[in-house]
Amino acid sequence: MQGVTVVDHPLVQHKLTIMRSKDTSTASFRRLLREISLLLCYEVTRNLELTSKVIQTPMQEMEAPTLEGKKLVFASVLRAGNGLLDGMLDLVPAARVAHVGLYRDHDTLEAVEYFFKAPSDLENRLVIVVDPMLATANSAVAAVEKLKSRGATNLRFVCLLAAPEGVERFTKAHPDVPVFTASIDERLNEQGYIVPGLGDAGDRMYGTK
Ligand code: PRP
Ligand code: URA
Repeated sequence: MQGVTVVDHPLVQHKLTIMRSKDTSTASFRRLLREISLLLCYEVTRNLELTSKVIQTPMQEMEAPTLEGKKLVFASVLRAGNGLLDGMLDLVPAARVAHVGLYRDHDTLEAVEYFFKAPSDLENRLVIVVDPMLATANSAVAAVEKLKSRGATNLRFVCLLAAPEGVERFTKAHPDVPVFTASIDERLNEQGYIVPGLGDAGDRMYGTK
């Protein structure tokens, strides 16, 4: 699928299987999501541009690679996005963070915004949007629209699970935003849940069911 990368690394797939199981505890679910986020972060940042700078090793001077450009931004779609954010910040501790508060209305499945806070100079930065679930894509489409309206032009979207319907809608709405996911599942059910999926990611992360 154009613009979509499925991260099929064996460790990602193994951990995802444990997360899917309904018998996995809240604590394990959160830990596994954090572990997977490290591997997804590795993939989504794989082609970041490098420049070089002169440093002094204990042995001699050398010209060594270093990341080019301004610090990147992780944009977490609340609440469940924070489960991916934490691991990503472990790998890129200097990153800036945006929070996009959205919840999915249970009846209409429309995304309802309740919070937004982001660095002011989004136009100069790579913005990596993180949310474990891409179901109808209403939330992801709205989050990216909001970030674009605040100046972001260079974005990527990372999720754990996607429904084919959500991938299609998102890539049509934002064809300039590459998608990274660990799996594209079978379909959405009548309630807009991904099947086989893993259930409600936020509830499983925080034990709120
Ligand atoms: C979940 C998930 C996504 C959204 C995906 O969040 O984390 O944000 O649903 O569904 P969609 O693609 O159909 O929009 P939810 O609204 O349940 O909020 P939460 O993270 O606070 O639990
Ligand atoms: N949100 C979730 O947390 N899970 C789904 O399957 C769909 C939307």
